[in-house]
Amino acid sequence: MCGTAKFKQPPKDTDTVTDHIATDQLRHALAQFATGVTVVTCAHNGAPLGMTANSFNSVSLDPPLVLWSVMKTAGRYAPFAAADRFSIHVLHHDQSDLCLGFAKNGQYFDQIDWHYNDTDVPVLNRCLARFDCEQFALHDAGDHSIIVGRVTQLSQDTGRPLIFSQGTFL
Ligand SMILES: Cc1cc2nc3c(=O)[nH]c(=O)nc-3n(C[C@H](O)[C@H](O)[C@H](O)COP(=O)(O)O)c2cc1C
Repeated sequence: MCGTAKFKQPPKDTDTVTDHIATDQLRHALAQFATGVTVVTCAHNGAPLGMTANSFNSVSLDPPLVLWSVMKTAGRYAPFAAADRFSIHVLHHDQSDLCLGFAKNGQYFDQIDWHYNDTDVPVLNRCLARFDCEQFALHDAGDHSIIVGRVTQLSQDTGRPLIFSQGTFL
């Protein structure tokens, strides 16, 4: 409970108080947060499309909701924002090639083993965990949109996750 302060107040950290956050500084500070790495996939005009994303996170257990955020200026923004169904693949520790491949090229499927799931979403044959989703909500969030997915099916493998931090893989 927050009653009358019993303790002496510490001095405020005024050096870090600013009304303008420089983008590079923000990116650098955010890079200190280690994340897993995912590849998000959907079908677009009858062809498979993929994109690397580390903004994936859990939202709700009941109903089962997850999210990721997609940059509005990305060439692949429109297909993912419009996709009714998509799959999120958590990558294994030894799948940094897929991370880099799908960051550069939405058609990196040419280089890997994949198949269509039972709702016609292209999915990777191998990953640590897979969340098949239908779009639950799309929220405007600055230069990104937050895509919330309701998980309709999932699968998981054993092994260690690929970890991304400070611009590199751990
Ligand atoms: C480790 C990693 C994580 C990424 N995470 C995201 C993400 O969460 N959201 C996003 O919009 N782009 C993310 N990107 C960038 C995209 O994968 C892609 O490279 C970028 O959006 C350019 O896409 P475009 O070719 O469609 O313009 C990430 C890239 C890397 C290497």
